[in-house]
Amino acid sequence: METVKIGILGLGTVGGGTVNVLQRNADDISRRVGCNIQVVAAAVRDLSGDRICPTDGIDLTDKPQDIINRADVDIVVELIGGDSLAKELVLAAIANGKHVVTANKALIAKYGNEIFAAADKKGVCVAYEAAIAGGIPIVKAMREGLTANKVAWLAGIINGTGNFILTEMRDKGRDFADVLAEAQALGYAEADPEFDVEGIDAAHKLTILASLAFGMPLSFDKCYTEGITKITQQDVTYAEELGYRIKHLGLAVRGESGIELRVHPTLIPEKRLIANVDGVMNAVLVKADAVGPTLYYGPGAGAEPTASAVIADVVDIARTLDGNVEHRVPALAFKTESITEQTVLTSADFETAYYLRLTTEDRPGVMADVTKILADQAISIEAIIQKEPNEDQDATIIMLTHRVIESNMEKAIAELKSQPFLKGDVTRIRVEHLNA
Ligand code: HSE
Repeated sequence: METVKIGILGLGTVGGGTVNVLQRNADDISRRVGCNIQVVAAAVRDLSGDRICPTDGIDLTDKPQDIINRADVDIVVELIGGDSLAKELVLAAIANGKHVVTANKALIAKYGNEIFAAADKKGVCVAYEAAIAGGIPIVKAMREGLTANKVAWLAGIINGTGNFILTEMRDKGRDFADVLAEAQALGYAEADPEFDVEGIDAAHKLTILASLAFGMPLSFDKCYTEGITKITQQDVTYAEELGYRIKHLGLAVRGESGIELRVHPTLIPEKRLIANVDGVMNAVLVKADAVGPTLYYGPGAGAEPTASAVIADVVDIARTLDGNVEHRVPALAFKTESITEQTVLTSADFETAYYLRLTTEDRPGVMADVTKILADQAISIEAIIQKEPNEDQDATIIMLTHRVIESNMEKAIAELKSQPFLKGDVTRIRVEHLNA
């Protein structure tokens, strides 16, 4: 095949970046793939809108169906986002026998099982490297590079906007809302920034990583999800005093009784490499049995980093167009017939350590009561700090606990909240040592 023709749905930040990189690096790319890659058509929302890329030689349309119905398009690249129209278009493209490349994590996390089944039936590929951690080739690493391994757990900073906010809060003491506005202006944040700050975007990505790691169906609805909106400057500072950084992590852990699938703010020892991943950068730490720990780091968002992953998928598909479809890499790393349901634990069964912060009356016996309530739930304290009382004579107590089953911690927190000495809420943030 001399030229592989692609049609792009959406010519915004990532679509425009994809066209720019394909044009700029056309020679190197065609030397690698053995043919030319040509963007023949693109669907846009507004035909007269501004573009970040040249559009000469590309047929523009405001009807996305035109792209998937074109006989000359080999690969449809879906970059419109969202999960309703995108799902409809991707399934229609598959039905038309087109291969699909997508950067849409919500689409894959929620409907990937159905989409991959449709693609298998039709004998086409659906590739999604750009859906997770932007430019980091994490899907390729997990699906191919780590194929010999049994994965024990993985932990990822997989939302650049959230990481940018936490980094700026820590380094510059900046306000949450102010940093979020900057992330939006830089084009990192989702159209609905709640997806970033409430952890939904990270949960989409973690869902996919867990399936790649453990050979289970995509289980987005079972992922425990907590955002960063309750993290205060105080907690960031106290975590530092204790030698930790707060990061918004996605964790997929294979335990004896099931899989923990969870996204939440997490204290990590500051000496861990992943604790030093700052700003909009992403990183995924994978603990596997043969290789041990491996860490994948890079830009998790942005036009060209994401385009880099989109084009890698286009090239992978282009390389198989003349080949034996039986030898394609399976969409979720495991052969479809070997993907097995696994127990995904509810949060009550998670096992993790905790950071607790509470404000109490400053009088004799309070500390003894607090530690007894924890001891009654078999919670062992690893470190404890009591801050000088404030002008109202309230004391702040900060504790780190050893690992505990979450339902025990829930009971202890409920008991603490019922005490007359407690002022306000009990802040709890999970702690992971990520000992690899
Ligand atoms: N909003 C996402 C992020 C974009 O901040 O990481 C990349 O998926």
